[in-house]
Amino acid sequence: MRVTEIEALRDLWYAVARADQPGAAAVQSVRLLGEDYTLWRPGAGRPVLADAYCPHRGASLAAGTVDGDRLVCCYHGWEFDGSGRCVTIPQLDQGRPVPPRACIRTWPVVERYGLIWTCVGSPSTDGPPAFAEADEHRWRVRVDFFEQWDASALRIIDNNIDQSHPAFVHRGTFGDPSRPRVPPYELERSATGLRARVPQDVEGVGPQMGDADEGRRYERMQEVELLDVMHSRIRLSYAGQAPDYAFYGSATPIDDSSSIYVRVSALSGEEDVQPYAMFWAYSRRVTLEDKIVLEGTNPDFPVEVTREVHLRCDKTTLEYRRLLARLLPGVARAAADAAEAMDDLPGRQVRPAAGSAA
Ligand code: FES
Ligand SMILES: [Fe+2]
Repeated sequence: MRVTEIEALRDLWYAVARADQPGAAAVQSVRLLGEDYTLWRPGAGRPVLADAYCPHRGASLAAGTVDGDRLVCCYHGWEFDGSGRCVTIPQLDQGRPVPPRACIRTWPVVERYGLIWTCVGSPSTDGPPAFAEADEHRWRVRVDFFEQWDASALRIIDNNIDQSHPAFVHRGTFGDPSRPRVPPYELERSATGLRARVPQDVEGVGPQMGDADEGRRYERMQEVELLDVMHSRIRLSYAGQAPDYAFYGSATPIDDSSSIYVRVSALSGEEDVQPYAMFWAYSRRVTLEDKIVLEGTNPDFPVEVTREVHLRCDKTTLEYRRLLARLLPGVARAAADAAEAMDDLPGRQVRPAAGSAA
């Protein structure tokens, strides 16, 4: 399944720009779910997401300029306000009203967590999912990055909640291929996604903690949460051995095979005990290990659970497929069968994956 084939994904909120960078362009183009838009900021007001093209002769509105609270088209100078209404047409005969059809569509926009968010479908909430560590705990929150990754947004979120790849993908940081097994863990459905708590015993994270002993092992609890199918939350708790932190992963689908991957971190410690630069220098190495693998993944994401092989350690990512399947009435039956889908359950006759030679 490709992201543009899942109509319900239009109803989610996506981060389409950073709000925490002074000097950002007053008008820019945005591509979301394979369609183009214009993002602009009227004066000091809240940003506006509008149509990509001018209703007059199809100029790119992102090539226009902002004059006070108006967006001015670069081609013939028509001016639009923040509601999308055309308020000035320079060529109009004196006394003639602006034709009502000379307007552009706009979509809701909110600024939160250092980002500009929008929804181009029918949103069921007034903004993106809440980031608990930012809202409730008042931890130090920062946008780690907002950048294009050439991978399906579904693959990016799937990777965020995947439990068994670190031993291999992250062998350059905290992974250890000689310890590939994932301990048993519980998973529960939440109102909008899933939640799991996975105990971890890791080596190699010392540099992130400022620990001179790089070989020290840390026992930590990883709390994995899907806030919806495009937003994940990971909380790492060290039980007093080191300051806790959390990070939020949001994937904004540009099109089927490229995405804006947005990572927001929340640190529990003050700067002197948990310096951001130290935290991020290590986390950056980890994320780039994921990027290499993800940019080689298939943009066709199999929502039908019978198309892949699943192990018990894959509970989170199997549930992710169920959640996606529920957005698609046509594969609801396959989703219902997912409880039987794990191929390594004791006593279960392992069936070949579709297309295998077995
Ligand atoms: S194309 Fe925009 S004003 Fe003519
Ligand atoms: Fe990873």
